[in-house]
Amino acid sequence: MKIAFVGKGGSGKTTLSSLFVRQLAGTGRPVLAVDADINQHLGAALGLDEEEAARLPALGAHLPLIKEHLRGANPRIPDAAGMIKTTPPGTGSRLLSVTGDNPVYDACARPVRLDNGSVRLMVTGPFTEADLGVACYHSKTGAVELCLNHLVDGREEYIVVDMTAGSDSFASGMFTRFDMTFLVAEPTRKGVSVYRQYKEYARDFDVALRVVGNKVQGPDDLEFLRAEVGADLLAAFPHSDWVRAMEKGRPPECAALEEPAAQVLREMYGAVDASYERRDWARYTAQMVHFHRRNAESWGNARTGADLTAQIDPGFVLGETAPARALPDAAVPGAAVPGTAAAPQPA
Ligand SMILES: Nc1ncnc2c1ncn2[C@@H]1O[C@H](COP(=O)(O)OP(=O)(O)OP(=O)(O)O)[C@@H](O)[C@H]1O
Ligand SMILES: [Mg+2]
Repeated sequence: MKIAFVGKGGSGKTTLSSLFVRQLAGTGRPVLAVDADINQHLGAALGLDEEEAARLPALGAHLPLIKEHLRGANPRIPDAAGMIKTTPPGTGSRLLSVTGDNPVYDACARPVRLDNGSVRLMVTGPFTEADLGVACYHSKTGAVELCLNHLVDGREEYIVVDMTAGSDSFASGMFTRFDMTFLVAEPTRKGVSVYRQYKEYARDFDVALRVVGNKVQGPDDLEFLRAEVGADLLAAFPHSDWVRAMEKGRPPECAALEEPAAQVLREMYGAVDASYERRDWARYTAQMVHFHRRNAESWGNARTGADLTAQIDPGFVLGETAPARALPDAAVPGAAVPGTAAAPQPA
């Protein structure tokens, strides 16, 4: 299950992503946490010290390896250089799973031990002023997008992405890659205006979007959110001393989280689990193709000098039940074959 946390800067995306990751880790099921936010704080929120967080390898720095691995033996993608962030998988591509090892995880994922379990963490790498709005920024979140587009996850496997609600994710289609998007909103006009913008983009794409209020201090705050957000409001996370202690570098045990806060996490978990029924791999694949076409036509073809829509494999549908078809190991030297591309399925 792919879960995104979005919202205004400072709303609590990282705090709630990290708490939700802890909640999932407590189930003992596999969890992959991904920091795709401009402010890279997820590692610290999961308890890493500064030095450990700084040592995390950056996805953005391994883009050639990621592309080379994912392209596998897909004949429509003859080289990694022609792969852009929206390039969809097709017959011959290598798919990722949440569990297991592969060259991408070897290079970019690191285990993080929590007091109630263990998860894997991948980070895009820090964004610099110079990155924002230009190609480097896109390549950093682009690495996450490529991974999501090649990732086949089952019901009890989780990918949690801490990201911004920025226009980049709308242009590329990344915002459509999730089974559940939690929009974290403080009870303020700015907080809910980000929700409205997101909702507007999400409307045409069947995005499952729920608002989680944060730093909600009383009935007035709750009333405000209810009035502004209506039925999209899932729950309201209270101001938390547990979170404050974490900020002071005194990480409390997971089990010590205040009960009203723990209740919100359980509701979020319930919403994620229920969203499984809405899963539709054909829609997922079609959206991926739609945004690839759009990106190819608006900048990709001009940038690469090729018709990138030729990368689309018309009969291919990503899916959990795809019959395994092993790739020759020789396609990427030394590579394990974690998942294999689905055979073409009826459209
Ligand atoms: N429920 C809460 N109770 C107390 N403090 C909170 C709560 N939620 C968030 N905070 C605090 O608010 C600040 C911002 O939270 P956080 O870093 O999670 O936001 P963010 O949306 O990830 O921000 P950014 O946009 O900078 O990445 C942090 O200092 C955090 O500890
Ligand atoms: Mg953050």
